[in-house]
Amino acid sequence: MASFDVNGEQVSVDAEPGTPLLWVLRDDLGLTGTKFGCGIAQCGACTVHVNGEATRSCLLPVEDVEGAKVTTIEGLGQGGLHPVQQLWLKHQVPQCGYCQSGMIMAAAALLAETPNPSDADILARMTNICRCGTYSRVRAALEEARGGARMGAPA
Ligand code: FES
Ligand code: FES
Repeated sequence: MASFDVNGEQVSVDAEPGTPLLWVLRDDLGLTGTKFGCGIAQCGACTVHVNGEATRSCLLPVEDVEGAKVTTIEGLGQGGLHPVQQLWLKHQVPQCGYCQSGMIMAAAALLAETPNPSDADILARMTNICRCGTYSRVRAALEEARGGARMGAPA
């Protein structure tokens, strides 16, 4: 049993110890916006926020979020689209869209922590993999978020 907050609601789930948070979110709680990609914490498709930090949920045992505050893509824009989602629409970032919930969660955590990220910050923190190659649009959206003109090569 693990109890934690998901998108502002307290939940208790009866999951085997060691069950990755990703599968609890998707299979037990029906929050399928968080995606499975690699399952080895490399691609970022499964990124959620745990106490505000971008966290890859595919290898995170559910018992490790006991008492924590988890936010998924479904909870990010409660009360309207999150500013990152608005920028993603403006820059038409998604292509197939599969990786994008994780990408958006990573970007939202970056901007919450570092509202004016440097190029190095963006490169260091936006490590999600996109098979469609949306990296340059991600970069353009984040550059607008920091209020700067487009600089340098695409990420
Ligand atoms: S599915 Fe978690 S990082 Fe790829
Ligand atoms: S938009 Fe298709 S994998 Fe990223």
